Amino acid sequence: MLDKLLYIETFGCQMNVNDSERIVTMLADLGYAATNDPASSDMILLNTCSVRGGAEEKVYRRLANLRIYKRDGKKQIIAVGGCVAQQEGEELLRKLPYLDLVIGTHNLHLLPEMVRGAERGERRSETTFIDNDQRLDLFPSIKGESRLSRFVTVMQGCDNFCSYCIVPFVRGREISRRSADILSEIRQLVDEGVREVILLGQNVNSYGLKSEHEPSFPELLHQVAAIDGINRVRFTTSHPKDMSDELIACFADVPKLSGQIHLPAQSGSDAVLKLMGRGYTRDSYLAKVRKLKALRPDIVFTGDIIVGFPGETEADFEQTLSLMEEVRYIDLFSFVYSPRPGTKAAELVDDLSRTVKMARLDRLMELQRRHTREISQTYIGSVMSVLVEGEGKLPGQVSGKADIGRIVNFTGDTSLIGSFVDVKIAKAYPNSLLGEL
Ligand code: 5AD
Ligand code: SF4
Repeated sequence: MLDKLLYIETFGCQMNVNDSERIVTMLADLGYAATNDPASSDMILLNTCSVRGGAEEKVYRRLANLRIYKRDGKKQIIAVGGCVAQQEGEELLRKLPYLDLVIGTHNLHLLPEMVRGAERGERRSETTFIDNDQRLDLFPSIKGESRLSRFVTVMQGCDNFCSYCIVPFVRGREISRRSADILSEIRQLVDEGVREVILLGQNVNSYGLKSEHEPSFPELLHQVAAIDGINRVRFTTSHPKDMSDELIACFADVPKLSGQIHLPAQSGSDAVLKLMGRGYTRDSYLAKVRKLKALRPDIVFTGDIIVGFPGETEADFEQTLSLMEEVRYIDLFSFVYSPRPGTKAAELVDDLSRTVKMARLDRLMELQRRHTREISQTYIGSVMSVLVEGEGKLPGQVSGKADIGRIVNFTGDTSLIGSFVDVKIAKAYPNSLLGEL
């Protein structure tokens, strides 16, 4: 019986979104139903992100605000999970007397017993890394309402240690799930009505490389695409250095593979890429982009860029803009560099002023808006296959995702939800397309 209410707020990346779904599944067994209202909930959990400084402070502010719900007499469990929890551990319990639970990124399987303890008034923090195969068996699965498109974790953690990045410290070493488990999870999802899967990991294209028994990522993609009932496959995120020719070839050989790829460049300057420890050059990145475009001319790229990395000169920054001109991303996530304690880059001299960094970010975003607009305009008049996922923004409209990942709204009946339909694009907006069935 679900007689208690759980309120979760999720920050940061898709990994956290996925973990939050796992948490909802696990705590349902303890009688917790998800709610959108923190005030009336019996438990509040913040699933946190520490990849940039701002996100961390946001968590502290949010916790301070949510505390108002923990009024005298009312028993409410307050928990912090995710990357800030992993990083701060016990310290959070010491700093925040109203906090009950701190749960690290490798410890989700302990959450049910921790919550039972907290219901009896115990405070507890668990943040031990499990960097062996045991972690795979502790991987709680998601049972949930059936949706058409679902994330499936294929690997966790990261071994790359890019000099700016906190992820290897808060998510631990890279570990790949067994392909047999991944494939059976996807078959199960198909039975629940799922038509599209998005293979998820910090660095999916190094999947299986550390194991003799598992397929490589391209082989895994072929196996996933071979599953009957799956109509479309995507993946995120991939590291350019691990973008092998074999994987590039999948964009021609695997028709179910989506024509959109997220390939974070981080910078267009060789000097900065070297300081970042990314393991590729501007030229080798662009060579891969050109190969992908040659194999699949309609492919679209999305990416991540950091501006204002320590020592980034005006010339370095212009290299980034020129890389953007060559790639022409349809969408770009851009960030001002934020030093993360314990990372190598945090020791570099960072003497660029905030004003310069923000001005660069503005220029970059302006260029990106132009590219998004120009690329989107080229779709007008074309026909796209859209997986209809739900109602649209306006009455009478339905909405779905095209193969290239763009949201497409069009006038149509809700009976279309769940099917792939051909839609002719009539208008392009910054974040979506409007079409006709
Ligand atoms: N500062 C700014 N951006 C960062 N990212 C990761 N670490 C930092 C940092 N310290 C960005 C990268 C990464 C994305 C998820 O977040 O662009 O690809
Ligand atoms: Fe961070 Fe680099 Fe690993 Fe991505 S590949 S998670 S940026 S260390």
